[in-house]
Amino acid sequence: MAFSSIYLLTIISLFLFPTMSISTSLKSMHFTFYQHDIVNKTDFMIIKGITGADLSLTASPFGSIFILHDPLTISPDPSSDLIGHAEGATITSSFDGLDNLSIGKFTLNFRAHKGSFSVLGSVNNLKPSDIPVVGGTGDFMFVQGFLRSSLVDIKGLYFVYKVEANLYWPPFATTL
Ligand SMILES: *[C@@H]1O[C@H](CO)[C@@H](O)[C@H](O)[C@H]1NC(C)=O
Ligand SMILES: *[C@@H]1O[C@H](CO)[C@@H](O)[C@H](O)[C@H]1NC(C)=O
Repeated sequence: MAFSSIYLLTIISLFLFPTMSISTSLKSMHFTFYQHDIVNKTDFMIIKGITGADLSLTASPFGSIFILHDPLTISPDPSSDLIGHAEGATITSSFDGLDNLSIGKFTLNFRAHKGSFSVLGSVNNLKPSDIPVVGGTGDFMFVQGFLRSSLVDIKGLYFVYKVEANLYWPPFATTL
């Protein structure tokens, strides 16, 4: 009964307020950048896990904790324009050593956009992963969406990730 009256109200309001639409006030932004991660230079193992996989370049024992501070650039070339940095921690969360829980903050300053957004999610080392964006600061205040991160290059201990950002602002954020 509650459902049908809400439904009816929606139908009525569609007729009464035909210009009211949530989607027209939604702001979004889509862009790509590259994350440069170097073992023992920008990304360090702080705690070695206790069981599961052996430590290798793609896997780590269950419970391992890594802390990183990686530069972000506009192209895969590390000498291309710097647009910000990523701070984060990853915790190995599967016994095969391939999944990790990632906590990250991306601070950006590019194309007149300045601020940061934070991510939290589980990612797999071998497959492209979608990581939810849980909020932001500055020009990215209230942002939601996801990052799609994929490994595009490995040179020894140096890993380059392509990060596609798909950001959406909820309607109330446009009044800022
Ligand atoms: C990183 O540094 C630690 C501590 O010095 C060392 O044990 C480890 O082998 C290094 N990792 C790699 C992949 O070289
Ligand atoms: C966690 O997964 C991400 C995404 O695949 C990867 O970039 C990162 O190297 C992984 N971290 C560890 C410590 O395995």
